[in-house]
Amino acid sequence: MRTQPTTTRTSTQITTVANDNDGHPRPPAAALRMPIPDRQAEKALRELEAFLRRLPLLNRGVEYGTVSFSMSLLEREVAAHIDPQIIGPIVYSGHVDQELALRYLGLLGFAVSSLERHAQGAGRPAGSALAAMPGVERCLLELGRIANHPPRDSHYTYWLNNNSDDPLTFTGETGEKFFNFAVNQTDLLLGNAADYLLDIRIGALSLRDPQAVLCIEEAAASIAILRRVYLDYRRPVEGGTGARMTPLDFNRMRNYLLPYPVGGMMHSGPNATNVAAYPRVDLAIGWADEAFCATIAQRLSHMNDRDAALVRRDLGLPSLAERLLDLIGLRTEKGVSPTIEQLIDHIRQSGSDGRKVAHAYSLLVKEAHALSALHWGHISHYLVHGGKTIPAEMAATMPLKPHTGVSGSSLDRTHALMSGRSAHWTVTCLPKAVDRLTFAD
Ligand code: HEM
Repeated sequence: MRTQPTTTRTSTQITTVANDNDGHPRPPAAALRMPIPDRQAEKALRELEAFLRRLPLLNRGVEYGTVSFSMSLLEREVAAHIDPQIIGPIVYSGHVDQELALRYLGLLGFAVSSLERHAQGAGRPAGSALAAMPGVERCLLELGRIANHPPRDSHYTYWLNNNSDDPLTFTGETGEKFFNFAVNQTDLLLGNAADYLLDIRIGALSLRDPQAVLCIEEAAASIAILRRVYLDYRRPVEGGTGARMTPLDFNRMRNYLLPYPVGGMMHSGPNATNVAAYPRVDLAIGWADEAFCATIAQRLSHMNDRDAALVRRDLGLPSLAERLLDLIGLRTEKGVSPTIEQLIDHIRQSGSDGRKVAHAYSLLVKEAHALSALHWGHISHYLVHGGKTIPAEMAATMPLKPHTGVSGSSLDRTHALMSGRSAHWTVTCLPKAVDRLTFAD
C-alpha cells in the first residue's frame, strides 16, 4: 500500500530516523536480541485490549467535556498502556509475523487515533499527538514494515479484522458497532455477488448456459440482503425506539478516522470507500465509466495485495453489460448507449436465452442501484441534514465537518459518482425494455 508524502522527509529517510537512537526510550540491545515467547506478546496484547475496552469512556469524557475525563488523563492512560518500554521489546523481537503486526497496528491505532482526534479537535495540527510519543511512532513504522501495511489503522484493522459480536470501538455506541457490522456484511455479500459473476466475465460460463442466469440471480439476492442491512441503520433494535445509528453517532465515529502523518508521511485513516467488494460489483455490472474507473484505480493503493489484485483483474475483464450486448448481437459505437427500442428488438431476436439473461441482469442492476440510492440517502440523512442537528458546542470540537468526506473530498464528487450509476443505460433503458417485452407477450 502506498502513502502520500506531505512533509520534507522521504520514506528512505524515515527508515533512517526510525532506527536512530535519539535518547527516547527504546528496548536495550540485549532485549532486542532476546527471543520473545509468544505468550509474552499475547499477554501484552490482551492487556492493551482490556484498556481499549475502557477507551470509549475516556473518549466520551473528553468529547463531552466531563471534568474528570480530561485530555491529560486520556494522554496519561494511553502513554501507560502503549509505553515503548513495554511494546518496543516485542515489536523489535524479530518474532512478530505479519498477522501479529497487523493485529498490533489495529490495537495501537485505537489509542493513537483517539489522541489525534482530540488534539486536532483542540486546534492542534495533525500528527502533533503522535509526535509527542516518538518511541510509539517508531514502533508503528516497524509494525507497518512487517505487516506491509500503512503504519496506522485502516479499513482492515478497524472493520474487517475487528469483526465480532463485540468489536472494539472508539465511542462504544451501538451505532458504531452497527456500522462495523454493515461494512463486514458489505465485504461478504458484495464479495459474493462479484464472485458469482466472475465466470461469466472471464468467459468460463456462457450466458447461454442456464447456470449463468442462476449466478446472476444469486448475485442479485446477495445485494438484496445487504440492502436490508442498510435499511436497518435508521430502524430501532427490537424492543427499542431510537435508530440503530443516529447522526450524532455517525459524526462522532467518523471523527476518529482522521488523516495524520506517521514518520513524516501523511496517512489517511480507515475509509469504507476502500472496501474492495464495492467497486468489484460496479465493474461486474459495467456502469463505471472512464472517470469512475480512474477513481477505482486510485483506491488500489489503500488495498492489500490480495484485494488490489482482485480489483486490478476486474478492471481488465468484460462486464456483464458487454456480455449481454454480445449475446443479443447489439453493437454500438464506443461511448454510445443502446436505446430502449434497440434493446427490445435485439433481445426479442435473441430468443428465450436473451430474454432470461436480460431479465435476471435487469433485476441485478435494480438491486445494486437501489443500494446506491439508499447509500446516498444515508449520506444525506447523516451528514447533509444530520450534521445540522449536532449540538453546536460539540460540532465546534469536531475536526471533520459533516460536508466533507473522511478523505477530505467534497460530497459533490460522491454525488456525481452515484448519479453516474443512475444515468447508465442499464438503469435508464434496460428495465423498461424488459418490462415492455414482458407486457407485449
Ligand atoms: C450510515 C451509513 C453510511 C454513510 C452515512 C456513508 C457515508 C459516505 C460518504 C460521506 C462517502 C463519501 C466519501 C468519503 O467519505 O470519503 C461515502 C462513500 C462510500 N462509502 Fe459510505 N457511508 C455509509 C455506509 C457505508 C458502508 C456500510 C459501506 C461499506 C463498505 C460504504 C462504502 C462506501 C463506498 C464504497 C464509497 C465510495 C462511493 C461509492 O462507490 O458509491 N459506506 N460514504
